[in-house]
Amino acid sequence: MSTAGTSQPVWLPAPADAEAADAVIRTFRAAFGTDPVGVWSAPGRVNLIGEHVDYNGGWCLPLALPHRTRVAARPRADGRVRLLSRQEEQRWEGTLVDVGPGRPRGWPAYAAGVLWALSERGLAVPGVDLVVDGAVPLGAGLSSSAALECAVALAAASLAEKPDASTELLHRACVRAENEVAGAPTGGMDQAVALGGRAGHALLLDVGRGTSRPVPLDLVRHELALLVIDTRTPHRLTDGQYAQRRRTCEEAAAALGVSHLAQLHASTDLSGLDPIAGRRVRHVLTELARVTAAVTALERGRPADLGPLLLASHASLREDYEVSSPELDLAVTAAVGAGAAGARMTGGGFGGSAVALAPRGALAEVAAAVHAAFTAAGMRAPRFLEALPGAGARRDR
Ligand code: GLA
Repeated sequence: MSTAGTSQPVWLPAPADAEAADAVIRTFRAAFGTDPVGVWSAPGRVNLIGEHVDYNGGWCLPLALPHRTRVAARPRADGRVRLLSRQEEQRWEGTLVDVGPGRPRGWPAYAAGVLWALSERGLAVPGVDLVVDGAVPLGAGLSSSAALECAVALAAASLAEKPDASTELLHRACVRAENEVAGAPTGGMDQAVALGGRAGHALLLDVGRGTSRPVPLDLVRHELALLVIDTRTPHRLTDGQYAQRRRTCEEAAAALGVSHLAQLHASTDLSGLDPIAGRRVRHVLTELARVTAAVTALERGRPADLGPLLLASHASLREDYEVSSPELDLAVTAAVGAGAAGARMTGGGFGGSAVALAPRGALAEVAAAVHAAFTAAGMRAPRFLEALPGAGARRDR
């Protein structure tokens, strides 16, 4: 279908697993002159519904993307760590003594941070040569950082001869690397689904209870598809806005006498809060009800019922939580205008990606309409990918 101007929507397919593993091995050999002892990978994620609720002790419903970050690694006897990436020029070399809050900077913070956090937890993490190959779009709000952390965590556990280290231990180390070393005060959803995602399923995470369970998401059988729209507008979790939302929620919880907002009843009287805090809390409580409704719809085999829930979630994030952006709003409106059953921003917001639920047969048409709407508005062309629910972190070779 033709779009405004001559340009066409750009799609980001997930590379085939076997070829991607071969490619990272080849780069390792070229860089370090020897073979890695293994290849590990972890996926990016898209959150179907349940936004800005994880750090409020709530429940959310993310799924793992077919797009993965791979690492090839080999232990070193001298304790040194050498990190390089097939996508980024920045390299890093040091020892775990050089790692800590704020050090190193850039992408190596996530990889070295995990090695450091695991060794702080008592794992005998050796020195390592490591190559990263990321197929999760960077800076798109699709958790490329969690994918990197989780792939490194699995590799490190194996190199430390603890390949059966618990998911909980790995999860804590990944979140600590992100919170303390990279300085992003995120809530743990991304790492949980990168570690625990399951093909054909979304993952219902109950952060307050510390539990998770897969929920069937058989889109193909229902002739549906999830379209991810990367608006290519900067999305940052370290610039203060995310932390501010989190702080407002913590203060409101304290004022209402609970440790987390998810402990409140949906009909809690919020009139004693200042108006901004009241709206933030209202988002959290209504969003939690929408997650519950979404799970019920999926368990009843009615995924199309998610449409109105996605739209209500987006409206709440835009009006009450104020984390949307003009590009995200346009992505939602244009997708729905072209036949999507529902759409919403996904992830932290202020940029990044939106997700739309569309009839399978209309996927290309919806993407073309979003592309055309961005072009007409003078916005940078978005990029598209299809979110078929993939598997969590694993060893590939
Ligand atoms: C980011 C964070 C998550 C979560 C979402 C909002 O993706 O990493 O922990 O808080 O924002 O739902």
